[in-house]
Amino acid sequence: MEILKKYNTALHSHLKNAVPEKGPRQLYDPIAYILALGGKRIRPALTLMVCDFFGTDFKKAISAALAVELFHNFSLIHDDIMDNAPLRRGEQTVHERWDVNTAILSGDAMLILAYRFFENYEPKMFHELAKLFSETALQVCEGQQHDMDFETRDDVSLVEYIKMIDHKTAVLLGAAMKMGAIVAEVSETDKDKIYEFGRNLGIAFQLQDDYLDVFGNPETFGKQVGGDIISNKKTFLYLMAVGEGSTTQSEELEHLYSINPKDPTDKINTVKELFLASGAAEATQAEIEKYSQLAYSLLDTINISADKKEILHEFGRDLMKRKV
Ligand code: IPE
Ligand code: IPE
Ligand code: MG
Ligand code: MG
Ligand code: MG
Repeated sequence: MEILKKYNTALHSHLKNAVPEKGPRQLYDPIAYILALGGKRIRPALTLMVCDFFGTDFKKAISAALAVELFHNFSLIHDDIMDNAPLRRGEQTVHERWDVNTAILSGDAMLILAYRFFENYEPKMFHELAKLFSETALQVCEGQQHDMDFETRDDVSLVEYIKMIDHKTAVLLGAAMKMGAIVAEVSETDKDKIYEFGRNLGIAFQLQDDYLDVFGNPETFGKQVGGDIISNKKTFLYLMAVGEGSTTQSEELEHLYSINPKDPTDKINTVKELFLASGAAEATQAEIEKYSQLAYSLLDTINISADKKEILHEFGRDLMKRKV
């Protein structure tokens, strides 16, 4: 993303050096592998950008940014095991390329490597960063557990779904931004506001992720399109389609989400059609817009210059146009 370029360039070499060069290679190679696949790296770039926007040299936030990106990648390695996902960033997932045990332990090691980056801060800042990080990481685990529990539940509500994505995804975006504010030593009010901005954008971001999981282009998406349908994920798309669709549409969907066919092609295609015909696809777009606007409205009250606010606004708009 163009807006983040300067920060991503600064992160590049640090991310490469984040992987231990010693053995055992079976432990560290998967870490090097997933990091080399890149990804958008929005979270660490946001940490740096927020620090920069609050008037502090963003290099001071590099360690916090690396912690966030390592944590994110650790969560992806484990998420791909849990979601039975074959593809990540256009390549084989770690547990497919190696095996599940390797993916578990490399993920664990990556989480520990993430925490280590906080050691580069003085005690007071270390404490504040590590505290936020631990709280966030635990919320991500809670969100992930709900996500898994919902696969086999047929009574998930929209409120529960939003809470689940808030935890598994949005709080990390909020925390990534807040860490930039912590390093910049701004007021508690500004820390909280930037956190809420990131969090609302994060909810929109996960709604968009769920949308792309169904309607993304398999050539460019980098993940298996239809994966959420195969796993019977109770996404906003599904909940809206069941809730707002006709009785026939709802019943067909509920049936499709109670079976796990060997060849899921027909199931995916039918569900896709039902998401469109029931109006759920459009409703999801509207919900993405709703949370984006909520985020933008929070921007107004933050203590940064108008041009910086505009850049954050533009970042949000770019993010919601993403195809990967
Ligand atoms: C994927 O995050 C996991 C979600 C929370 C949706 P990203 O879409 O940021 O993944 P990368 O890091 O760019 O690959
Ligand atoms: C993942 O949500 C959130 C975390 C990794 C914590 P998804 O399962 O939707 O993410 P993708 O689609 O696999 O990237
Ligand atoms: Mg997944
Ligand atoms: Mg998942
Ligand atoms: Mg997804």
